Amino acid sequence: MASIKEIPTTPTTRFERIGAHTHIKGLGLDENLQAIKVKDGMVGQEKAREAAGLIVKMIKEGKLSGKSIIIAGPPGTGKTAIAVAISRELGANVPFIQMSGSEVYSSERKKTEILIEAIRKCIGIEIHEMRKVYEGELTTVDIKTAPHPYNPYQKIPESVRLTLRTTEEEKSIEAGAQIAQQIIQEGITEGNVIQIDAETGRVANLGLSTESTKGKTYDVDTTRKIPRPNGKVLKEKEFVYMLTLADLDELNARQRQGGLFSMFFGGSETKEIDTEIRMAVDQQVKEWVDNGKAYIHPGVLFIDDSHLLDLEAFSFLGRAMESELVPIIILATNRGIARIRGTDIKSPLGFPVDLIDRSVIIATQPYDIESVKEILRIRSAEEKIKLDKNALEKLAEVGAKSSLRYAVQLLSLAAQNAKTAKKDKVTVEDVQRVDDLFMDMTEAAEYLRKHEEKMMIH
Ligand SMILES: Nc1ncnc2c1ncn2[C@@H]1O[C@H](COP(=O)(O)OP(=O)(O)OP(=O)(O)O)[C@@H](O)[C@H]1O
Ligand SMILES: [Mg+2]
Repeated sequence: MASIKEIPTTPTTRFERIGAHTHIKGLGLDENLQAIKVKDGMVGQEKAREAAGLIVKMIKEGKLSGKSIIIAGPPGTGKTAIAVAISRELGANVPFIQMSGSEVYSSERKKTEILIEAIRKCIGIEIHEMRKVYEGELTTVDIKTAPHPYNPYQKIPESVRLTLRTTEEEKSIEAGAQIAQQIIQEGITEGNVIQIDAETGRVANLGLSTESTKGKTYDVDTTRKIPRPNGKVLKEKEFVYMLTLADLDELNARQRQGGLFSMFFGGSETKEIDTEIRMAVDQQVKEWVDNGKAYIHPGVLFIDDSHLLDLEAFSFLGRAMESELVPIIILATNRGIARIRGTDIKSPLGFPVDLIDRSVIIATQPYDIESVKEILRIRSAEEKIKLDKNALEKLAEVGAKSSLRYAVQLLSLAAQNAKTAKKDKVTVEDVQRVDDLFMDMTEAAEYLRKHEEKMMIH
């Protein structure tokens, strides 16, 4: 008997990533943009959420480009959470780039370069292009081969004759080696619906025609089925692409870089894009917009912890906001009156006053105990932690006393403690224990003050 051994199947456990804001699904507003206390993972903070709702509406209507919005409030009051909710509300079609104020400091690139790139990544360009294409279901295909010039035993495609059918007509065309090669490479056979760009000769395989019986080999087929195209075989078709200004910059830079040198040396990856290229791209985009070939979708650049930006970066942002192609800029900060980085000047939020003057400010407030409790409940569901009632009460109490963040951290730690003790539910003892083991911010500061002289200073 053949020796066959059965291997027990171990259930594959999926590693789920739970980030700090994965529970946020939206701003939680009703149709009149009024906040519902608990909705979409959001709790309380109604005024800030309603303000954010108005902003989202204006962004969607394209009325807000070139403005900045500041979200200000104490640490852990949901500033980042609100920005995440804004991006969820805007949906996938509006570019949303998130960065931290600290990201502008790099030893390799200039601050302004990093900011320009981020700004250009946030401007979506919808390009409409009319192209002439041959399109239809492939009914016959005949590839002619010729001996390879250096190796007569090998054959290479020389030309191809093919017939394309639409609902209206049938047309035969003859094409050169380039198209023949693509047909072989893509594995295109009779029954496939293909598209050949009349100008560039690029071949695209769209799928298998539903009407064709030729291409059908198996009962269970995974290839995409599409109906036989209608109209003429040779036609003008509209193509729509979504790109960002940064994508266009890169495409242009690559094109210019090409040539003999890059052929020999593989082309170098440029770290920075010339201003000249950017200007050319802007010019081109403006022309497209004027001719009705392109539409601009200004997105959002969200700079978290933006008190880390310095005066140079702020003044650059201020200037950028006045140019034509600019996204909506959202800045978040938890500073009160603070020094503007790179100067000795103290200013509200640590921002230059003229920037504050140009912005609208959304403020977030510290949470009351009920909201903390609700957020903890949502987090425990998100992290799949079972909590008993008293444990939740205790955590909420800790949260209201020190900070929401600290309570959220304790929640995970308490769950780990319960797991170690082989319990399936977190009880008040677990919370108590981890609260004793770890310090919150006030406790840590108190401790340091008490033992200052015993600690190493340098
Ligand atoms: N209103 C809310 N509803 C639901 N979850 C919230 C809410 N506010 C904050 N959170 C959650 O609490 C945690 C802390 O909030 P967040 O990180 O947004 O604070 P922050 O104001 O950005 O703080 P910092 O100033 O330190 O950056 C996050 O996990 C966040 O998702
Ligand atoms: Mg934050």
